[in-house]
Amino acid sequence: KAETEVDLSSIPPGGLRTVAWQGKPVFILHRTPEQIKEAAASNGGGDPEPDSKRVKNPEWLVVIGVCTHMGCVPNMEGAGWVCHCHGSQYDDSGRVTRGPAPKNLEVPPYHFVAENKIVIG
Ligand code: FES
Repeated sequence: KAETEVDLSSIPPGGLRTVAWQGKPVFILHRTPEQIKEAAASNGGGDPEPDSKRVKNPEWLVVIGVCTHMGCVPNMEGAGWVCHCHGSQYDDSGRVTRGPAPKNLEVPPYHFVAENKIVIG
């Protein structure tokens, strides 16, 4: 299916939901005020990008859950994700903070169709 609709209302603050879109996992993170502050406080690491360019609403991070090194699926751990294939790390904006991954987790095309509903694709 080209588009995936996701109801966000059941994802609590701090909660992560993984949905499938075009055969790929997409991570949807309902960020807490602390996570929002932390994400806004830096530009990430190896692929600098402001958090504001990566989200449409600071409460919701939507990224493709595929490591930009060789395509493993990173695990949510602590304040972001760890890819156990070769040790890359991503922050709670999905930006790479430790290689070998060269790039931030990709943001898929998506839009809000209601306050608590997005369509990916
Ligand atoms: Fe993720 Fe290599 S595939 S670190």
